[in-house]
Amino acid sequence: MQIVHYVEELRGIISEAKKQGKSIGFVPTMGYLHEGHLSLARRARGENGLVVMSIFVNPLQFGVNEDYEDYPRDLSRDAPMAEAAGVDVLFCPGVADMYPRGYATFVEVEEITAVLCGASRPGHFRGVTTVVAKLFGLVQPDRAYFGQKDAQQLRVIEKMVEDLNMPVEIVPCPTVRELDGLAMSSRNAYLSPREREAALVLNRSLRRAEEAIRAGERDANRIREQVAAMIREEPLAEIDYVSVNDGVTLREIERIGDRVMVALAVRIGMTRLIDNLQMNLGGEG
Ligand code: PAF
Repeated sequence: MQIVHYVEELRGIISEAKKQGKSIGFVPTMGYLHEGHLSLARRARGENGLVVMSIFVNPLQFGVNEDYEDYPRDLSRDAPMAEAAGVDVLFCPGVADMYPRGYATFVEVEEITAVLCGASRPGHFRGVTTVVAKLFGLVQPDRAYFGQKDAQQLRVIEKMVEDLNMPVEIVPCPTVRELDGLAMSSRNAYLSPREREAALVLNRSLRRAEEAIRAGERDANRIREQVAAMIREEPLAEIDYVSVNDGVTLREIERIGDRVMVALAVRIGMTRLIDNLQMNLGGEG
């Protein structure tokens, strides 16, 4: 596996791979890898001739009071994990190389970025789409792999790719969970043992919502209330949002139809965690 720090070096590798007719699979990350990232890399390995993973903690997608400075960074830990998962090129650019002095170009998807995480983190998705568009321009992937835990991010990227006719297939991959159900996230590293325990309320409340929907509940408000009530029982948890939306436009719904997403953002102590449940009920009662 090659570790590449500079844009120019990456360009050389990509142009060589293209000359050789290799398909390129791309896994963008902010590092501090976990099984979720590695599952994306393994999937990319199985489907492409060259697998590129990026590790870049993107300052543009963090708000002023967010955890940009504290975000865990450890390349000596991440590199062997990426290599074992089949990554050929680990691209770890510096901020000055990605956003040189005078940088002035941004990519913004409207509407679906105004709700959920976009509402509580203004500017976040503009940072995400800008860096992902830049990375797509550099890596020129045939396929790019994103986890469904960040469901809104996935929809936003799909919309950007569609609207800008980017020649890349977006491959959504399932959320990977710890044995006790906690969705894997680099931010789980912030949790104290007591907070780690409290964080289980996210998955627990989603499983409760799933049961209720499977049992025939179609009133979205009742699902919102049940989920919120369960989260409020956990003293360390503070709700940012509980959304029951249509899963595509991410608009809140009143009646649950064929498709539904229940999405949560919850603060556990100082750590903001997200999780979601997506159900396709086509044909179910
Ligand atoms: O999901 C992430 O880790 C980041 O938002 C991404 C897609 C790598 C862009 O910085």
